[in-house]
Amino acid sequence: MTELSFIHRYEPATDPSRPPLLLLHGTGGDENDLLGLGRMISPGSALLSPRGKILENGMPRFFRRLAEGVFDEEDVRFRANELADFVTEARKAYGLEAPIAVGFSNGANIAAAMLMLRPEALSGAALLRAMVPLSRAPAVDLAGKRVLMVSGAMDPIIPADNSKRLAASLSASGAEIQHEILTAGHNLSQTDLQLLVRWFAE
Ligand code: MLT
Repeated sequence: MTELSFIHRYEPATDPSRPPLLLLHGTGGDENDLLGLGRMISPGSALLSPRGKILENGMPRFFRRLAEGVFDEEDVRFRANELADFVTEARKAYGLEAPIAVGFSNGANIAAAMLMLRPEALSGAALLRAMVPLSRAPAVDLAGKRVLMVSGAMDPIIPADNSKRLAASLSASGAEIQHEILTAGHNLSQTDLQLLVRWFAE
């Protein structure tokens, strides 16, 4: 694997008409977790899958938190920029267009932060079980970016009004938002997969 600033896995595209995906795992996951999901939801896409650099009791994450659902926002900002820089590096190394982020949980939260802080790094995002990453959303222009958010109505980690606030904030910044709220908890379900497949096919 090419030496870049994040430990990562990379799979080249087999269908150049498909957009590259930036796969961002949840807390305790790693760069291998979402490769299968990526292949399933957008067959033939190039897959770029970094491992979060923060360790919380040995579990990789993309930024520090003070407690569950309470973020170290200075670190969120630092790590979102660091990850956007990695995307720039990887695009050069592998010859890629700006990717669509596909993030789960902590990975979805760093993707949302990247959209707000470094919108040029991503061409769009699928945010699975995301919450508001920054208490004050920076002014940003997300016109032309498609964002799918899939939340769980029974998610014990993310209050319903929090995910709705994130959707509203991304929409107010001009993103083309589709927010689906499933009868589900924090874990992904078959319905998440179906929504992702459909969203990528559109
Ligand atoms: C986070 O820390 O990003 C959220 O609480 C989701 C999680 O990783 O559990």
